Amino acid sequence: MSRSAVLSAPASYDAGDFHFHGSAATSEHLLALEGMPRIEIERMIEAGVRHRERARRRQFTDTLRGRSVCLAFFEDSTRTRTSFELAARRVGAEVVTLFPQGSSMSKGETLLDTMQTVVAMQVDVAVVRHRSAGAAAYLARHLDAGVVNAGDGAHEHPTQGLLDLLTLHDVWRGRFEGRRLAIVGDLAHSRVARSAIHGLRAFGVSVIAAGPPSLAPRDFATLGCTLAESVEEAMVGADAVMPLRVQFERMDRSLAPSPRQYARDWGVTRERVALMKHGAVVMHPGPFNRDVEIASDVVDGARSVIARQVENGAAIRCAVLERCVAARDARLDPLLDSEPVERLHAFDTPALVRYGGLAS
Ligand code: CP
Repeated sequence: MSRSAVLSAPASYDAGDFHFHGSAATSEHLLALEGMPRIEIERMIEAGVRHRERARRRQFTDTLRGRSVCLAFFEDSTRTRTSFELAARRVGAEVVTLFPQGSSMSKGETLLDTMQTVVAMQVDVAVVRHRSAGAAAYLARHLDAGVVNAGDGAHEHPTQGLLDLLTLHDVWRGRFEGRRLAIVGDLAHSRVARSAIHGLRAFGVSVIAAGPPSLAPRDFATLGCTLAESVEEAMVGADAVMPLRVQFERMDRSLAPSPRQYARDWGVTRERVALMKHGAVVMHPGPFNRDVEIASDVVDGARSVIARQVENGAAIRCAVLERCVAARDARLDPLLDSEPVERLHAFDTPALVRYGGLAS
């Protein structure tokens, strides 16, 4: 994508002024990047750039004044939860955080009943992280609110995919075609890798993935990437690398190599970074384990764009919240919008079943 392509989005689209109506906002939910049209991603990137510039100047907006966002994190998080909270406040929304540990779920209340209770307090958008693939899609079908998937099991983490795209847009100055990203590590459990692959494919970027055999299922390539046999094969000549943390919490630990063995065989080290193209960058979605999947000096090195990813996370989430509210407004009051609002991403897919999703 050229920079001019990003900057030539229709004049009707102006994230900072909350003009998402019209063709820009097609769903009040954000559940996955799989199948999302490139133009829609480009518009969120453009809006993310504007929000980032505003944040740097400490000039925030009130586009979502009077709106309420619920952060419902049924799994731990640092980056996603705090950046959604900052994002919601930076666009003027009220924020409430549901902490499952202290909630009435301990008394047997179901996920849906809990979320319906919160949404009944006039919540506009629910941001949901859950260990089960399909949890956000399930809630989107039943709740009277926009739903944003903040990570569902091993399925997708679409806002992470968007912030990664925004970061690569910065690094590559909007020129995605012909680029190659290496993803190395625990592919089997990575929702980050899945969203990255779906998003990057929309922009013509090729992805080469590699990981220990027990964590790199052969059918991973059906997502639209190439599988390499070694970290060196994946990284040589690449434009960027994204190491993935081994998600010990999601596996039988006997399947995983020891941290020392993992670092030796699969770790992204300075020597391996040197195999990439001149100017290639190192990403990491976080949280990272220094000197396991990524060497400590690489985390802190000149090629690292990890801090920029974090900054971009807050910016892109401002754009995502505005997009969801605008699409919801357009559905509830069609006179606001001349085009039908489609629920593009409220779907059941076989993938959800494959990744251990909710049955109902
Ligand atoms: N990348 C990411 O999702 O980080 P958190 O688990 O800290 O939110």
